[in-house]
Amino acid sequence: MKKILITGGAGFIGSHVVRRFVNKHPEYQIFNLDALTYAGNLENIKDIENQPNYTFIKGDIVDESFINELFSLHNFEGILHLAAESHVDRSIEDPLAFVKTNVIGTMNLLNAAKNQWKNNFEDKRFYHISTDEVYGSLGTEGLFTETTSYDPNSPYSASKASSDHFVRAYGETYGLPYVLTNCSNNYGSYHFPEKLIPLFINNIINNKPLPVYGDGNYTRDWLFVEDHAIAIDLVFHEGKNHETYNIGGFNEWKNIDLVKLLCQIMDQKLGRDEGVSEKLITYVKNRPGHDLRYAIDASKINKELGWKPSVTFEEGLEKTINWYLDNEEWLENVTSGSYKDYYQKQYS
Ligand code: NAD
Ligand code: TYD
Repeated sequence: MKKILITGGAGFIGSHVVRRFVNKHPEYQIFNLDALTYAGNLENIKDIENQPNYTFIKGDIVDESFINELFSLHNFEGILHLAAESHVDRSIEDPLAFVKTNVIGTMNLLNAAKNQWKNNFEDKRFYHISTDEVYGSLGTEGLFTETTSYDPNSPYSASKASSDHFVRAYGETYGLPYVLTNCSNNYGSYHFPEKLIPLFINNIINNKPLPVYGDGNYTRDWLFVEDHAIAIDLVFHEGKNHETYNIGGFNEWKNIDLVKLLCQIMDQKLGRDEGVSEKLITYVKNRPGHDLRYAIDASKINKELGWKPSVTFEEGLEKTINWYLDNEEWLENVTSGSYKDYYQKQYS
């Protein structure tokens, strides 16, 4: 059986990718490497923990000797790298943590893969999962394409941009076989409630203020996480070597419009009178360096690999809200403990 390493598989997107690979690819032995930071949670992948083709390894990608030791124990044929510090607001508070995991951690994996594979790259693949935020901010017009110049504005996006550059450099310099994708904002189940959609769902449930940054006229393109996992599976197997693909939902929303839609749906679900949750909207101090607009041109992956989102935003949002309402215990578990300190510091 081919050994495939997936990093960050206890996080939001990683858990969906691990679940898909374990269930859809019994021909692979999947190794899920995750440090279980505040964002990692084994509950996210409980349903597959006993599958015969699945192994969990707790470990930190920043720890070079640990990574080298792991690669001396296993010959990985493929690596899907998702482990990262992923929240912009946290990157503003602690940029160095982002350099360590996102840049040094990626370097450790690149070096380990390069050394293990030596110059025999046949049937090997390093897949780096990245974000559209590396392209910086759009004005009201235009879309990010694969050839848009990198122009990161936050410590998070700068660290991801840096890791993307190193992946490309290893491809050019050492011939490392890689594919890279830059995806827009994901939403769905198991999303940690520090990001907009799960944070606001949780706050609506608990009748807490909904902190909209600035005037709320900031735009994001939203993709259902399971559609991202499908795209990742496709690119891993059929993407061209040394290529980048943009992945997006063709689904732009201004934050304030999205928040109002969430409030309407939640009022119905919770049996509240129309307009009750909207009263929780509170405009707060803007995020420093807040990117105005992200929007992805995903026509390359559509034309070359035939991928497009399988669910509409309405369907995806409905599934997501239902999941949070059905999994209040998960929400309670992840919002106890250190989350309370984070919340207090970020929003007080
Ligand atoms: P997440 O924060 O939910 O999960 C990250 C996971 O990585 C966690 O399980 C965490 O424990 C693990 N991790 C963090 N530091 C680690 C370390 N040093 N060693 C080992 N494991 C570590 O992130 P996510 O939202 O699932 O994002 C996954 C990837 O996708 C990231 O690379 C991110 O940049 C990228 N991405 C995210 C989005 C999005 O909307 N969330 C969009 C595009 C791309
Ligand atoms: P977020 O989910 O943090 O993703 P990203 O910054 O990576 O796009 O934020 C999505 C948008 O929502 C972004 O424009 C910032 C805004 N936002 C708020 O207005 N309030 C909040 O409390 C959060 C977390 C985000």
